[in-house]
Amino acid sequence: MYFYDIIEKKRNKQHLSKEEIDFAVHAFVEGSVSKEQMSSLLMAIVLNGMTYEETLNLTLAMKNSSETLEFKEYLVDKHSTGGVSDSTTLILTPTLAALGVKVAKMSGRSLGFTGGTIDKLEVFEGYNANKTLEEFTGIINKINCSIISQTANLAYADKLIYDLRNKTATVDSIPLIASSIMSKKLASGAKFLVLNVHYGSGAFMQRKKDAIKLARVMVKIGNDSGVLTRACVSNMNVPLASGVGCTNEVISVVHAINGEQSNLLKLSKELCVIILCEVKKISSSVALKLVNETLHSGKTLAKLKELISEHGGKTEILDNINSVAKAKYKVNLTSKEQGYVKNIDARTVAKAVNHLKELNKDESTKKLVGVNLNVKVNTKVKPDDVLLEIFVNDKKHAEKVTDELYHAFRFSRFKTKEKKLIAKII
Ligand code: URA
Repeated sequence: MYFYDIIEKKRNKQHLSKEEIDFAVHAFVEGSVSKEQMSSLLMAIVLNGMTYEETLNLTLAMKNSSETLEFKEYLVDKHSTGGVSDSTTLILTPTLAALGVKVAKMSGRSLGFTGGTIDKLEVFEGYNANKTLEEFTGIINKINCSIISQTANLAYADKLIYDLRNKTATVDSIPLIASSIMSKKLASGAKFLVLNVHYGSGAFMQRKKDAIKLARVMVKIGNDSGVLTRACVSNMNVPLASGVGCTNEVISVVHAINGEQSNLLKLSKELCVIILCEVKKISSSVALKLVNETLHSGKTLAKLKELISEHGGKTEILDNINSVAKAKYKVNLTSKEQGYVKNIDARTVAKAVNHLKELNKDESTKKLVGVNLNVKVNTKVKPDDVLLEIFVNDKKHAEKVTDELYHAFRFSRFKTKEKKLIAKII
């Protein structure tokens, strides 16, 4: 078999067999195929697509390219395709664990403009996400949940291919995204998986119909591979909560757990309900009641404290969120308009926060920079009302992003019909 022929076949819109896909992935991991050749194959896949069978075979080839984990217990996992102020993991994990569901979560760091769970957990000083697999299972057995960094050893082919995709404009392709995500998820040994696939300006998938298509492919791959899989497709046009940037997102999580209404809380509850219905075989109304009780009774917060402590992190900020370390300066961005907020563009806000992080050269204080939204869609504003607060360690940095941030806002004389948060459950 020759790699050249495989590229040519895909370029000519033909289907690749399982043997050809296995050969291609194996040869690339082994180093017998150049990056140029693999890049050509990836581009041919982006342009000509893959059938479901090809996508499944690519997923399995990448999953089997390195070690895979097996757990005796029934473990639950959740994956988000990445969004803005998307911290559902930090609410869902302790809530489910408090309800007796074992959650084994391997998370990533920030990717592109989207935030990463591990970076947020490190706001809790001392949090160690690099536990061994023995320590990981030990913590799950003790407190029902653990969140560690995705190990590079799982789905090693995806790591190599993903690096190449990032450099060759071959990221946005449904078969490539589906196989990348699912190879890692199947390798990590969970028995039940819930996928949160976002669409909109703050997501990798801009269009709802593409997000639904991606969710359907991933759900089928999971179920066909013996992992019970469901998906929730949700709107990511506006940040899920008011805080954007690690510290501000953790503050939003604590407020949500303490009952402050936000799309972050709503989505976290929805994902918990999907999981509880499957795992405990109960109706969604019973599941929602359990979730609400767990949140309101303080059990979610108590479990989050246990989770942080077990990983060596300090938990004081969970008792008093005002004690969290903050950036040196808070600069207000004010409205020049009169009317109702019509939109707050998630991608624009996230990119501005990324620019703030880039400007803040000191690694140790990067987590402190970010923004906090003071308004939501349909908030009535007048000139000089504060739209958002910018947290920086150097006031000049705030000046550099104010125009950019202001462009995230759209105003209208009338109230806007709000878009649905949950588009589809699959
Ligand atoms: N996240 C992944 O892990 N892979 C992709 O291709 C896109 C998002």
